[in-house]
Amino acid sequence: MTLKNWCVVLAISASAVTSAIAQSSFPPSPNAKQDAPRLVEVMSMAQLQHLKLWYAGKAKNWDLAAYELRQLTNSLAEAAIFYPAIPVSNVTTMKEPLLSVADAVAAGDDRKFAASMRMLTEGCNACHSSMGRGFIAIGVPTGGQPPANQIFSPSGDSRKK
Ligand code: HEC
Repeated sequence: MTLKNWCVVLAISASAVTSAIAQSSFPPSPNAKQDAPRLVEVMSMAQLQHLKLWYAGKAKNWDLAAYELRQLTNSLAEAAIFYPAIPVSNVTTMKEPLLSVADAVAAGDDRKFAASMRMLTEGCNACHSSMGRGFIAIGVPTGGQPPANQIFSPSGDSRKK
């Protein structure tokens, strides 16, 4: 394909993307800045933060867990601020599980951490179901491989190796 043809293809797909945003069933708040992230971007970030939070807690790396929990909380707040179609009650119900995870992280309590993470995850799914997105089912990771390019054990441990 010539360079010119590529440019045409790019231009067509760029306009397709723009109209896909315009047709999204969850338009950003008119008060949001032009560069408001798409809701799926915020959610994809939340998914990664949820995953890292889990592995950090499992590795008892509570500093990292606290950090990921802050990022995840910010992502959920962003979703609520930018996307007014999301019922406020769906967001406020996340408060209790988020606080419960925060307590577990602060106490370094891994049993409470796992239980709170399950509660939090139910909150993710409850909102998805109530918004016609029940097919986006989140779970806590069961075994498997964490993001393989990040070390989850506390830095003290990794230095000892
Ligand atoms: C208050 C409501 C709400 C909560 C809470 C919520 N989500 Fe979502 N999420 C949505 C909506 C609405 C969509 C669909 C967005 C769309 O289709 O444009 C979505 C989509 C997603 C997607 C699909 C993105 C993609 O491109 O694949 C993922 C993944 C996701 N959410 C993860 C999570 C995780 C993880 C949590 C919990 C930590 C969570 N969500 C909590 C409302 C919520």
